[in-house]
Amino acid sequence: MTAAPAAGSSDDADPLTGHGPSHNGSRPALRPLRVAVLHNSKSDAARALLPADAPRDALAELDSQRGVQDYTNALRELGHTVEAFEGDLHLPQALAQFGPDICFNTCEGVRGDSREAQVPALLEMLGLPYTGGKVLALAVTLDKAMTKRVLAYHGLPTPRFQEFHHPDEPLDPALAARLARGGALFVKPNREGTGKGIYKDALVRTAAGVRERVAYLQAAYRQTVLVEEYVSGRDVTCGLVGNLDALGGPGSLHVFPISEINYANYPAGTEPFYSYKLKVDLADDYAYWCPAPLADELAAEVRRLTIETFRVCGCLDIARVDFRLDVENNLQPMILEINALPGLAYNSDLTLCAQADGWSHYQLLQAYFNAAAQRSGLSVPRVLPDLSRA
Ligand SMILES: Nc1ncnc2c1ncn2[C@@H]1O[C@H](COP(=O)(O)OP(=O)(O)OP(=O)(O)O)[C@@H](O)[C@H]1O
Ligand SMILES: [Mg+2]
Repeated sequence: MTAAPAAGSSDDADPLTGHGPSHNGSRPALRPLRVAVLHNSKSDAARALLPADAPRDALAELDSQRGVQDYTNALRELGHTVEAFEGDLHLPQALAQFGPDICFNTCEGVRGDSREAQVPALLEMLGLPYTGGKVLALAVTLDKAMTKRVLAYHGLPTPRFQEFHHPDEPLDPALAARLARGGALFVKPNREGTGKGIYKDALVRTAAGVRERVAYLQAAYRQTVLVEEYVSGRDVTCGLVGNLDALGGPGSLHVFPISEINYANYPAGTEPFYSYKLKVDLADDYAYWCPAPLADELAAEVRRLTIETFRVCGCLDIARVDFRLDVENNLQPMILEINALPGLAYNSDLTLCAQADGWSHYQLLQAYFNAAAQRSGLSVPRVLPDLSRA
């Protein structure tokens, strides 16, 4: 884990302060920027874009009013001129009027196979810099099966899987064999987040159960369905801000302490995985450890895999990688997914990890922004408090 260098240090660009040496070693000129905060909010307009029979969790990933207010306030605290815009069809005109230097992107999109990549694609067309992953990274990482193919290509550990286009597709022999041995499979929508579609019955033990769940999810979420080996073990997540350097070195990456769900603190009978119920319905009672009580070597491996996943998926500025530690295989960390646009609300997993590292919520938002401003060649005013730690 890298420590945040002191504000004003001459180390490489630091995502927290946004500072790095310019070519001649002097500081970049300081100037406030015009920043457009782009979001998709849980609005009636978003609801109107969904099919009439959309599931109850359909808007779960979208921003709340409080979230948008937090993003805006955090960036204003840096001295920037900030306005928030809905990432919808009016966006090109609104941006033309506002004239941003850079966009702070949290748009999840509301519909379409590559919904998270839509606003970035538009911003590319408009020639505007923006925070976070670019079009390809957001399209790939929204698609869990495609992400797993990329991970497998790079030899990174992820559960065996099958992507179902139809409930009657024959079950992959290795997954069928797992059921035959008394093992379980996990069934979830291929392109969702925030636990959407992940309820108690995600865990299945029969081929008929797999087909039934696939049929339901495919109809309800209108997308392919991912069936994976169920990994028994602890849930950990690891997040970061910053960027790799041009040669792929650790650059300005700052990896936060790993967090782990404390299932013992939930009522008996609660499902042993991070379902929609735990993530959303029971969010106020979220029970976790951060830092997770992991042996040093295991924690280092989780951090290494987090950075490698960030690298091979082409993410930028921020990410959070979710794992299970496989009890049947010596606690091998198995990568479930990478969140290239992780939740950034005051109570999101990444915010809690940053807080365990001594950062405030706003400092996390500011570091995310500064990482993008820095790599986009924009100067960053130096108004953050000195966060250097002993
Ligand atoms: N193959 C698996 N084996 C065991 N548990 C799993 C598996 N896949 C998912 N889970 C459980 O379900 C949770 C949610 O899965 P996943 O991270 O894929 O969903 P998500 O909705 O994209 O989450 P996020 O809120 O991070 O966007 C995991 O944290 C884990 O507890
Ligand atoms: Mg997840």
